[in-house]
Amino acid sequence: MLRRALLSMSRSNRIRHLVVTAPVSRSVVTRFVAGTTVEEAVASTGSLVDRGLLASMDFLGEDTEQLEQATRTREAYLRLLRLLADEGLTGAVEVSVKLSAVGQALAGDGEKIALDNAHVICAAARAAGTTVTLDMEDHTTTDSTLSILRELRADFPATGAVLQAYLRRTEGDCRDLAYEGSRVRLCKGAYREPESVAYQGKRDVDLGYVRALKILMAGHGYPMLATHDPRLVAATEELARRHDRPKDGYEFQMLYGIRPHEQERLAAQGQRMRVYVPFGDEWYGYLVRRMAERPANLVFFLRAVATKG
Ligand code: FDA
Repeated sequence: MLRRALLSMSRSNRIRHLVVTAPVSRSVVTRFVAGTTVEEAVASTGSLVDRGLLASMDFLGEDTEQLEQATRTREAYLRLLRLLADEGLTGAVEVSVKLSAVGQALAGDGEKIALDNAHVICAAARAAGTTVTLDMEDHTTTDSTLSILRELRADFPATGAVLQAYLRRTEGDCRDLAYEGSRVRLCKGAYREPESVAYQGKRDVDLGYVRALKILMAGHGYPMLATHDPRLVAATEELARRHDRPKDGYEFQMLYGIRPHEQERLAAQGQRMRVYVPFGDEWYGYLVRRMAERPANLVFFLRAVATKG
């Protein structure tokens, strides 16, 4: 119930306005968001890389309703990629892009605009020596996102995809995408979805993750296992052994600020461990989804608001 209420909140403009203008302590946001400017975020990412971690940086923003905003997001990514290259970080840092932030949801030509913007970002990423992964949003965008992915991969084969274990369709998508050179991030899924398309209970979602994980680890692509779940981390290590996958044949991914000690533990064991680093002013939807995943995060948030108030 709480999860569903919070996920509805994540899309409410009225509540968004109330929360972002509330006197929330900066510490709440900075625990999960690596800064509001590109410079701050690149500095935080640099210190992760110094500690042996990889990163994927996400300029926060979604559901863009104006063409100009989509263009600004594209330009922010280009600036980010230039700075990453100047700092010598592109060997360890890629970028994650939400297609809705670069125009996918715009009426009329949205899909084409998103494809064009994403194409420009992929070209800049290649020139900088790195890659792009397309985040996956709610299920109404899955077909469009996978179709844009196919087009981008024709020119940039290393473009990463994201599949969500809670969707009933995902095992089939895993089979389609488990080919040589295909980078696939598998996550549980973070949006409020109807029962017709998505498993609702945690156990069913976890079982869906295991089935998808087995397909990806047995396949020919490059699996990127995005989860903080200790049982799924252990299952991945077991499947890697079973399929003789070397440690550079897959990677773990976790979110900035979540289980940082586990991130460092895995990296210290020689695992490829990539941290998803969100930054920017548009942190509201991202932060509320993190609250929905874990009540302890909500308590942390409310305590900080109360303390500040
Ligand atoms: P879950 O939330 O069920 O947690 C499982 C277990 O992990 C917990 O029981 C606990 O043991 C441990 N755990 C979790 N949080 C913890 C904490 N704060 N402290 C200690 N232990 C904790 N979603 C999406 O829809 N589209 C996308 O593109 C992406 N992209 C993405 C990238 C990356 C790198 C990650 C890690 C995640 C995403 N997600 C996402 C979000 C994803 O779908 C999911 O909502 C969250 O990762 C939470 O799911 P978990 O797999 O961590 O399991």
